This record gives sequence, C-alpha cells and structure tokens, in this order.
Amino acid sequence: MAINHDRVVAAVRRFTYQADEPCCAYVYDLEALRRHVAHLVSSLPSCCELFYAVKANSDLPILETLAPWVAGFEVASGGEFALVREHFREIPVIFGGPGKLDSELAAALSGKVELLHVESLWELERLAWLAREAGQPASVLLRLNLPLDEVPATSLAMGGRATQFGIEAGRLSECLAWLDLHPEIRLRGFHFHLLSHQLDAEAHLRLLAAYFYQVRQWQEEHRLDIRHLNVGGGIGINYREPDRQFDWTAFSTGLARLVQDKEMERYRIRFELGRYVSGFCGNYVMQVIDIKPCLGRHFVVGRGGTHHFRTPYAHGHSHPFFVLPVERWPYPFARPEIRDAKITVVGQLCTPKDVLATDAAVSHVRVGDLLIFPYAGAYAWHISHHDFLRHPHPAHIYLPLEENRHAANQ
Ligand SMILES: Cc1ncc(COP(=O)(O)O)c(C=O)c1O
Repeated sequence: MAINHDRVVAAVRRFTYQADEPCCAYVYDLEALRRHVAHLVSSLPSCCELFYAVKANSDLPILETLAPWVAGFEVASGGEFALVREHFREIPVIFGGPGKLDSELAAALSGKVELLHVESLWELERLAWLAREAGQPASVLLRLNLPLDEVPATSLAMGGRATQFGIEAGRLSECLAWLDLHPEIRLRGFHFHLLSHQLDAEAHLRLLAAYFYQVRQWQEEHRLDIRHLNVGGGIGINYREPDRQFDWTAFSTGLARLVQDKEMERYRIRFELGRYVSGFCGNYVMQVIDIKPCLGRHFVVGRGGTHHFRTPYAHGHSHPFFVLPVERWPYPFARPEIRDAKITVVGQLCTPKDVLATDAAVSHVRVGDLLIFPYAGAYAWHISHHDFLRHPHPAHIYLPLEENRHAANQ
C-alpha cells in the first residue's frame, strides 16, 4: 500500500506548535485505513470474507472505521469480546485464542458469538458442559496445527511444528469421535493460523493450497458436513524494506484462480487479518531531545520510546522513519545537530534495549526536529509496556474520514 504522508505531516505540525515541551504521539489516518480496507475487501473472491483481528489495534476509532467494511471482528479474549459487544451489538464475532476461561466461553455462548475456534479436546469438554447448562448448542471450528512439508519461513510461527496453538492434526480422529457423542457441539469446519509476518504472496498461496487440500481430504475421509474454512491472519508488513511490501494484487488474483482450480467456491473462506489491515494507518512520532556521540556512534534520544512503540524491539528490526524539520528553537544557545551520519534512535527508558532504529542514515537532524515512524498502526501501542518508568502516555490523534465517504455501500 502506498502511504501518503501529507495529512499526517500537517497534523503533526499543528500538534507540535501547540506543545510547550518535546512531544510524542500516535497519529492514525482513518481515511487511509478506510481506503485500504475497502480495497482489500473488494479484491477478494466472492466466497472469501475478511474479518479483522482486533488484537492488532483495538482503539475504538479504528474499529468504527473498519466495522462497515469487514465481515466481522475476530476476538481472542473476554476483554476484546466485551469491548466489541459494547460498541457493536450486531456485528458478527468469531472467538479464538488459547487458554479460554469458562467465563469467556459462557460469555461467547450468551453474547451471540458466531463461531468459537476450539484449541483442545479439554476446551471442547468444557464448552459442551456449558452449552448443556445453557440449553444452547455451540458452533465451532477446530483449530488444527498441521505438520506441513513446507511451512514458509517467517519470523513468527504458530504451527507446522510443536507449539501451544491448536490441536495436533494426529488427534483429529479422536476429536471427531468425541463430537459424534456430543450433539450440543456443532462442527462447522476448520481453522488454521500457522504463522505471522508473511511477506511472500506466492508462498502464502502455497500455504492456502495446502489447507484446501487437507480440508477436502478430511471431509471425504470422515464424511464431514462442513462449509467453513478459516485461514487465519499472518500477512506481514515489510519493515526492513518498506518498498517491497506483500503483493496483494498478485495474492488476490492468485487466490481467485486457486479457489476455482480446487473447486473451493462452496466453502466460506475466512481471513482474520490484523497487521496487514491496520498497520499502515498508524505513525509514531517523537521529538528529538538530545543528540550525542559515543565511541564512534551517534545516539539520538527522542521523547517516548519502546514503552510506547515496542514493535521494532518485538520484531527485532530497525524501524524506518523520516525526519520532519521543526524551525522553532526556544533556547538562547546553539542547537545540537548532526549531518550525513548514521544514527541510532533511542527513547527515554533506562535500558539499552530501548532502541527504535539502529545505524540509520540521515542527512540532517537537530534537537527539536520530529522523527516520524510509519507502519505503526498494528501491534504497536497495544503491545507496549506503557507504564514502565511512568512517563506520560503519548497523545493519540485520529485524522478523520473525509466527508461522505465513510459508508461501505456508497
Ligand atoms: C489465531 C490468530 N488469528 C489471527 C491473528 C492475526 O494475525 P496477523 O495480525 O498477523 O494478521 C493472530 C495473531 O497472532 C492469531 O493468533
């Protein structure tokens, strides 16, 4: 997705000029988010649905922007479910994630969750017990961990090898035998989420082809009456080489071909994407407080840090950023600056791990300038340890939708 920084830059300038201290903020472009999700939804084959994985960013303006476009929300905790139901009474919700509590299963049953993604036989036992108590059947997908010959190599694997996620494929027969004896649980299909950070469209298509093959085989072997296949999330953002993003056009056209070739049109194929939906619309902004040399390297200290924006540390990358010059200079002495150098951007925490970018080339940066880190709309604020050192939280700025363009069906 091509990012247009103009709106963000204008908003950041307005915000900075009002501030009387170095500032930090998240700036989300809701119009960019709307356009992006509209494009994703419109390019999927008609048997496919896009759910949004709320864990990536559960801020209300983000959910409100997405709600008219997506088929529903995927939640992975009672907290996410309560938030979604408080604000979106009717939107379809699917509920996954490991270690669900009885209270979460019961809330899902009473709160009109469309499908529960079950992670173990023990979870099935407890769900069946709760369903009997409530006098209400539960519709489920079984989340399976498949041992595939070729699991694409990404930096975050949830399956294809021993992990805590899903049911190992070798136990499927046992689960199906159990389900035969428990009519209060209705098996609707299967769920897979084997990896995140997928950047290769062809590799992702091969993974989906393996899911399609496997589901067809199980269906025939066990004579299952199922229509649902959830292929998870996992499409990544290329933080290391931002110009080489996942090729969505190649993916969506390849998917249409694959669905046709493998005769999958009669299935409802669901995606539950998080990062690839909301990641592009967010920017983390920090103002430079200090610049200092140390043993041949140059450290630029910004207002904020990984307690606000943990994404680079969590993913182990040097996050891309650009410098926005700020001319205002309040002090009666010279302004520290550096030219044509490689800088390491750090935050205000008392730990050497508080690093956002390492040895990044810049032509000019001064104390008081702003650093803008794009691709900060998913797994950014929401995965950060906000209260470490008790610095204030950053501002959260949501650039509004353009007039009259926010309805899905216009
Ligand atoms: C089961 C499941 N579905 C969907 C997602 C969303 O993944 P992503 O944000 O990589 O699309 C995750 C992320 O961890 C997940 O565990």
